[in-house]
Amino acid sequence: MKDKIEQLKKLRKDALLGGGKNKIDQQHEKGKLTARERIELLVDDGSFQEIDMLVKHRSTDFGIDKNRISGDGVITGYATINKRPIAIFSQDFTVFGGSLSETHAEKICKIMDMALKLGIPIIGLNDSGGARIQEGVVSLGGYAEIFLRNTLASGVVPQVSAVLGPCAGGAVYSPAITDFIFMVKGTSHMFVTGPNVVKTVTHEEVSFEDLGGAEAHSSKSGVAHFVFDSEVEVLENIKKLIEYIPLNWKDLPPEHNYDFSNDAIIPKLDTIIPDNPNKPYDMKEIINLIVDNNEFLEVHENYAQNIIIGFGRIGGQSVGVIANQPSVLAGVLDINSSVKGARFIRFCDAFNIPLLVLEDVPGFLPGTEQEWNGIIRHGSKLLFAFCEATVPKVTVITRKAYGGAYDVMNSKHIRGDFNFAWPSAEIAVMGPKGAVEIIFKKEIANAKNPTEKLEQLLKEYLEKFANPYIAAERGYIDEVIIPQETKQRLISAFQILKTKVDLNPRKKHSNIPL
Ligand code: HXC
Repeated sequence: MKDKIEQLKKLRKDALLGGGKNKIDQQHEKGKLTARERIELLVDDGSFQEIDMLVKHRSTDFGIDKNRISGDGVITGYATINKRPIAIFSQDFTVFGGSLSETHAEKICKIMDMALKLGIPIIGLNDSGGARIQEGVVSLGGYAEIFLRNTLASGVVPQVSAVLGPCAGGAVYSPAITDFIFMVKGTSHMFVTGPNVVKTVTHEEVSFEDLGGAEAHSSKSGVAHFVFDSEVEVLENIKKLIEYIPLNWKDLPPEHNYDFSNDAIIPKLDTIIPDNPNKPYDMKEIINLIVDNNEFLEVHENYAQNIIIGFGRIGGQSVGVIANQPSVLAGVLDINSSVKGARFIRFCDAFNIPLLVLEDVPGFLPGTEQEWNGIIRHGSKLLFAFCEATVPKVTVITRKAYGGAYDVMNSKHIRGDFNFAWPSAEIAVMGPKGAVEIIFKKEIANAKNPTEKLEQLLKEYLEKFANPYIAAERGYIDEVIIPQETKQRLISAFQILKTKVDLNPRKKHSNIPL
């Protein structure tokens, strides 16, 4: 027995070395951690249980059979993060550049199947040269098996991807189907075709970083939800994210302790909205004041900044925040912000995370660029996502709620559970100037002094519509609240909504305007 145990220990030792010391050193020289180091940093100490450590590839072409390394370029298993279970795979670049073989894919699929049965999140740490070239179509088949599982797991268990090295070709579609993508500045890259192919086809000269680096995907394409300077920060923030979300679609997000004896009055909120309705202010200041411990995990921070999305807690309960940002493009809704908001709402709704909407929106962005690129199609995604969501939904209108955007941003009419407004709210079909110029076109044109007439009509319009009271009279606004009372109201609202049950009609699935 002793010999057999020694033999096993030797096999394990070899497996732990992956592609060997040289390759590990090369990985470190590139400023990257190894697959195992990443797992260690991410999960609770000693909690990782590896599966399939001794799996080896079965291919024989191009002499690859002479190099069979235990684990075959991916480490898989389960562990806990803050004592909650997760399934994990971590690609090992030191073994064939982390490329995906048939067996490598089988290992990932096995852990995904297990996660789905157990109802636990799947975290994928990607660092791979893509399909194992020596295996040809077998490797492509392996990718397809993973894509299928990513898709079937969508909305059942949360799926989080970190791209910590190359991720090229069709391989990008596995992270892309998952719920959140993290990237590191400088070392992670994602693209469907790399710089060389781009040059051949379009004659564009572009670097790896400019084409598919973290900056490009966090600010231009919107592919990456989170970007950080180092892998350590990525892993720390995955932990934070996991703490806001449930294990699966039937579970609830973990609740944190909250001191309810705290009166939650925040006087500062009374002073944030400028007297001039055209002056911007920073909605993030409001969010940070409202969420517990001023802790807000912003998603897509650098993309479509006219809408803010992210996770916080209200009275200990996890909430997804969707807020217009008046300091960027006046908080207007456009294509990118609509899509950004819609996908986030659908994630929260799929995983029982209540929604908090902070609204200050002058409407949808006009212009040919928006119209021709499909603001109708994309704007409707945001509307659809809010309409469809059955989780607790609470809106606070801080200032403008104009036009279609009033309806879209979780209005009462589309099943907002509690719709509050601050006294500074302006709820109308459109902004005062545009409205007056349309409905009083003739009067203004025929007036002796058109400018004076316009001013007078504007004043009348503002008195009539630039307030929340007509909506409140009709019950479209449940309560006009003093800003400093907001947190108190929200705590109470999300507490009472804990038992909310709302169902959509039975169907195979909806047909969101994609
Ligand atoms: C087999 C691979 C590999 C691959 C890298 N390696 N990619 N082996 N299949 N796809 C091996 C290398 O031969 C090398 O082995 C080791 O991994 C490290 O690679 P290097 O090139 O030395 O590393 P680096 O300079 O850092 O460059 C990394 C890289 C580059 C940018 C990823 O290796 C690369 O361009 N690889 C090919 C990427 C690619 O085109 N993949 C196919 C994409 S299409 P040795 O033994 O020398 O150390 C695809 C389709 C998916 O994936 C379709 C899904 C539907």
